Amino acid sequence: VTVDVDPAAYDAGDHESYMHKEMLEQPVAAERVLRGRLDDRFGTAHLGGLNMDARDTRAIRRVKILGCGSAYYVGQMGAALVEELARIPADAEAASEFRYRDPVIEPDTLYVAVSQSGETIDTLLAVQEIRRKGGRVVGLVNVVGSAIARECDGGIYLHAGPEVAVASTKALTNMFLGFALLALQLGRVRDLSIADGKRLIAGLARIPEQIQEILDREAEIGEVAQQLADAESLFFVGRVRGYPVAREGAQKFKEISYRHAEAYQTSELKHGPLALVSEQVPTVAIVPDDELTDRNVGALHEIAARRGPLVVITHEGVDLGEVQCVRIDVPRNERELDPVLLVVPLQLLAYHAALRLGHDIDKPRNLAKSVTVE
Ligand code: AGP
Repeated sequence: VTVDVDPAAYDAGDHESYMHKEMLEQPVAAERVLRGRLDDRFGTAHLGGLNMDARDTRAIRRVKILGCGSAYYVGQMGAALVEELARIPADAEAASEFRYRDPVIEPDTLYVAVSQSGETIDTLLAVQEIRRKGGRVVGLVNVVGSAIARECDGGIYLHAGPEVAVASTKALTNMFLGFALLALQLGRVRDLSIADGKRLIAGLARIPEQIQEILDREAEIGEVAQQLADAESLFFVGRVRGYPVAREGAQKFKEISYRHAEAYQTSELKHGPLALVSEQVPTVAIVPDDELTDRNVGALHEIAARRGPLVVITHEGVDLGEVQCVRIDVPRNERELDPVLLVVPLQLLAYHAALRLGHDIDKPRNLAKSVTVE
């Protein structure tokens, strides 16, 4: 796949910030990462850049994903995809911690380094540590020819185009889709059926237009953000697939609004954090239509009973009972792919809260676009 994006010609144009431009570019960017990689005939993905044949791929017994910050959170979403579709044990870890615990490097583990910039020093050093010990690393990287891309044994370029805003958006969307492609390919050389492969391919093909549908509701979601912007402290909660979505939502919110935003597994609220819920502490809850919906709705009641303001990111038709909340519905897709759609309203919430607070959206205080020193 060749992608024609000229970084030199990339400016914010009519947008008030790069972040805004980059959020709105997500449908086009998503099409680019999928282009030429979906094989509907065999219900699989083509990822030639991995430099692995079917025999190598079948030999994988474990997948370990490494990234920092939001790349780590999308890595958690990716690990869930790999486990669900390929039934290979998978997990994600903060690359910044990995090498300090003298990790055991296994020959039948596939290591995956995920990075927008490809220059994050912690991720790069983790890759070098693994390769020094003989492990195989593939990269999910946006910037072509970057240090991490060069260091890996193979990889998937994300083709999101240049990303300037410190708060990452379109690169993250494409990371998720990159993981979906990887999980699909790993799954199809194992037990994932051709029918399931085709089901997921059809789902992936719908993602760009569904992201657009959410972006088209920016004004409505921006209104909700006005209510959150004044809170000093917020919770973002979700379960299983929804938990890394909540982590990413909290990350985006704190990065640019400078509000204290903390992510929790919804199931953990009653083990401590519920003590902090009050009229002054809103919760943004991720409640997709899945096997956990009823339990999630139960937790919403607990929050509402403590008068905690609630914003619920959910699917149309989900019955939230009598819970008083503001709901934002996202389009339905295959359940495995839900996180990529659930995360888009959270970007818009963070963005509009920061805008209301008058912050520098593209260059938030204390942060750099890529962290190249330890
Ligand atoms: C994302 O909004 C953050 N700015 C940050 O967490 C970022 O994802 C992290 O520093 C990793 O960067 P990378 O993808 O370039 O490696």
